[in-house]
Amino acid sequence: MNLALFGGPKQREQSFPKHPIIGEEEKKAVLDVLESGNLSTFLAGPGKNFLGGKKIREFEDNFADYVGTKYAISFNSASSALHGAVVAIGVKPGEEVIVPPYTFTSTATSVLMHNAIPVFADVQNDIFCIDPSSVENRISSLTRAVIPVHLFGHPAEMDRIVKVAEENGLKIIEDCAQASGATYKGKNVGIMGDCGIFSFQETKNIATGEGGMLVTNDEEIAQTAQMVRNHGETILESQKERTYKTEFLGWGYRMTELEAALGVEQLRKLEQGNKIRRNLADFVTKKINQIDGIKHIKKDYVEHSYYVYAFTFDESKIGISRDQFVKALNAEGIPFYEGYVKPLYLNQIYHDAKPFIYKFYKGKASYEKGICPVTERLYEKELVMTEILRPPITEKDADDVVSAIQKVIENKQEFENKKI
Ligand SMILES: Cc1ncc(COP(=O)(O)O)c(C=O)c1O
Repeated sequence: MNLALFGGPKQREQSFPKHPIIGEEEKKAVLDVLESGNLSTFLAGPGKNFLGGKKIREFEDNFADYVGTKYAISFNSASSALHGAVVAIGVKPGEEVIVPPYTFTSTATSVLMHNAIPVFADVQNDIFCIDPSSVENRISSLTRAVIPVHLFGHPAEMDRIVKVAEENGLKIIEDCAQASGATYKGKNVGIMGDCGIFSFQETKNIATGEGGMLVTNDEEIAQTAQMVRNHGETILESQKERTYKTEFLGWGYRMTELEAALGVEQLRKLEQGNKIRRNLADFVTKKINQIDGIKHIKKDYVEHSYYVYAFTFDESKIGISRDQFVKALNAEGIPFYEGYVKPLYLNQIYHDAKPFIYKFYKGKASYEKGICPVTERLYEKELVMTEILRPPITEKDADDVVSAIQKVIENKQEFENKKI
């Protein structure tokens, strides 16, 4: 036997190096904050304290400069930034927001958190992002906004999404949680909609432990987001008195100085990290796209941030199932996963555990199996993914990934013999 799954030698014995990389710069920046004693510095008083401490403002200024927006507002996660964005763009209870079902849960639950209704549009089968034609088909008189997700770091088809949004009076929140540093036709993600949100949770390309950012050029969106993250308080720089004036619902969504200090250093390293990710991905793509039945697609007008490397697997061409393939790769010592996430609309929260707002909802959002066939097919049969093609791994490590894929396919006959 050759395959490790059936007792053969493993392609790779040692584990892949750890992510994220924490350098001396990050350690010093965090120590400096600890020594300063200012761990948060968001105060209820008037003036700049409402906007956060020194490191928060440095991280926000640098991030806004990097992305190219007037404002960047930090949050304690991308999920809270999404919630802030849904509030700030003016969605009202009972209105609909179109989202893809192939994404992290909070892309859709951020809508529910504001008593609005997620409506799911299908994704494209090549880049796995929301399909602009499906968005168009889901628009109703209640639709207020759309949230395209730049899934795995590949930007969604923004030209077409912006066109559909403009023609139908919809707002756009770009979910760039997985796409720090990605570009679409030369434009940074996050600047093509009304606002964009990013994640700095520890697996992401910028890793601060937890953390998020909302970027926008719109002053009103920026100010509302600042209030949402600060318990709904309306203390702005222009106000003189110390007061707890709460005019609408807000939450404790503030980032700490420690995370901001990490973010400042990690942002400096983003371009270099993304370059390594792109080189590793190109190295793997060149070899595995030659296999009939495996396809990784990156449009030539985007810069992918390769948070995740994903491809489609056609079992009718390869001769074993996607799940057998992934099991065999894992046995070879290569961490791959199948399917990504179950289409979100199949979760209990859209069925037996529906939130209260649905009692008042007048629209026709459907959450039945079959509404997004491309997503369902990717989840059930076709999508294969890994997070390991990122620094500090080298081309030599990536070569193990390619060799393992080739080995499993060359020895697929062993599945037939073993009847697994
Ligand atoms: C597409 C997408 N949106 C939103 C989020 C939420 O990010 P966070 O964990 O920072 O709340 C994630 C997290 O993985 C994500 O992948």
